[in-house]
Amino acid sequence: MSLWKKTVYRSVCLSLALLVAITVFQRSLTPGQFLQGHSPSTLGSQKAQKQSGHLVNSFWKNTKEVDISTPTTSRGTQFWDVTTTNCSANVNLTQQAWFQGLEPHFRQFVLYRHCRYFPMLLSHPEKCRGNVYLLMVVKSVITQHDRREAIRQTWGREQEAAGRGQGAVRTLFLLGTASKQEERAHYQQLLAYEDRLYGDILQWDFLDSFFNLTLKEIHFLKWLDIFCPNVPFIFKGDDDVFVNPANLLEFLADRQPQEDLFVGDILQKARPIRRKDNKYYIPSALYSKTTYPPYAGGGGFLMAGGLARRLYHACNTLELYPIDDVFLGMCLEVLGVPPVAHEGFKTFGISRNRNSRMNKEPCFFRSMLVVHKLLPTELLAMWGLVHGNLTCSRRLQVL
Ligand SMILES: *[C@@H]1O[C@H](CO)[C@@H](O)[C@H](O)[C@H]1NC(C)=O
Ligand SMILES: *[C@@H]1O[C@H](CO)[C@@H](O)[C@H](O)[C@H]1NC(C)=O
Ligand SMILES: *[C@@H]1O[C@H](CO)[C@@H](O)[C@H](O)[C@H]1NC(C)=O
Ligand SMILES: *[C@@H]1O[C@H](CO)[C@@H](O)[C@H](O)[C@H]1NC(C)=O
Repeated sequence: MSLWKKTVYRSVCLSLALLVAITVFQRSLTPGQFLQGHSPSTLGSQKAQKQSGHLVNSFWKNTKEVDISTPTTSRGTQFWDVTTTNCSANVNLTQQAWFQGLEPHFRQFVLYRHCRYFPMLLSHPEKCRGNVYLLMVVKSVITQHDRREAIRQTWGREQEAAGRGQGAVRTLFLLGTASKQEERAHYQQLLAYEDRLYGDILQWDFLDSFFNLTLKEIHFLKWLDIFCPNVPFIFKGDDDVFVNPANLLEFLADRQPQEDLFVGDILQKARPIRRKDNKYYIPSALYSKTTYPPYAGGGGFLMAGGLARRLYHACNTLELYPIDDVFLGMCLEVLGVPPVAHEGFKTFGISRNRNSRMNKEPCFFRSMLVVHKLLPTELLAMWGLVHGNLTCSRRLQVL
């Protein structure tokens, strides 16, 4: 079968499976039971009791037990040590003038800024067993199932050997909980089901909001420090990018895991945005300097595992910042490790001009490492083109 036929076939199958799942499940539970059984706190405590690789609940009965024994390393905790959410608003702030002058959503952010770690709902310690060479982690949200599906079929497909005697390439998705109350219960069940099919979801018990993306960053770094201490390289990206894994591996072939490797699409001396209608608006009360430290666009970047573990500790010394990419730049600054720019990371599109023909040119995608922004259907189509019989007049030298 050709790739697109396979793709369509798989999508249809999965949609049917999900449809059946919803139907079965709506018939079998009254709304009351439904909500009661799956409030985040219930999930959290079940998780605490189990500490296994899967969410366990009475409905999707888990028949397959996951081995939780962890290979021994010379390290402290080997489990997620946060099992309850016990964090109240920092009322000390409410009297302070700078706080009172903030917009409501910034006040909300600042009130809970000290709440750093939340319980895990879905985890996969087994992902890092054996010889893993490259771990690809993708920021995703619960409702964007189609993006995860497209990634699994394209650049997120796992490989047992990365070539040149290297270990495996593994993929994980990073999620919080549904940001809208009405989405929570239904989507949580579907996500648990999706995770049972693929076993590739890491989920923590915090709301998946824009300002909470920084939480996703530090939760992943903590997870990595506990469960994945020896992985040589990590790719971290968004769920709406095109990645060329062959080029990533070619790029990494000359690198050593001990290096302070942090490469991506780097912004130097970016200025905090002070226009209130902008998504990235930051009031001066929250950040008063005129420029940010250098940071990588969150669309996709590569880092060495050792550096990632040091970043975890560096980030722990900083107060949370609402923009996750900038926050990671701040952590790098603490370590004194500057992120390095690379031509192959186009997290703002190949051409910054949205209408440029280059943004649809497969030969460019073939020579790049990461390109922003594609919808799932565009990703599947572009992947097909790039991996089909494509003849490019000249090969771009970006590696
Ligand atoms: C939350 O923490 C406070 C103080 O640390 C403690 O007194 C309280 O019992 C905790 N509550 C829960 C539900 O763990
Ligand atoms: C609030 O202020 C008190 C006294 O200064 C301090 O002990 C406490 O840690 C503060 N609370 C937070 C959440 O920072
Ligand atoms: C982040 O998640 C926590 C836990 O779910 C929530 O209490 C908080 O309001 C969220 N913060 C923002 C800014 O959305
Ligand atoms: C590529 O595919 C087209 C149509 O599918 C075919 O006509 C062409 O000969 C192929 N080119 C190569 C180099 O295989």
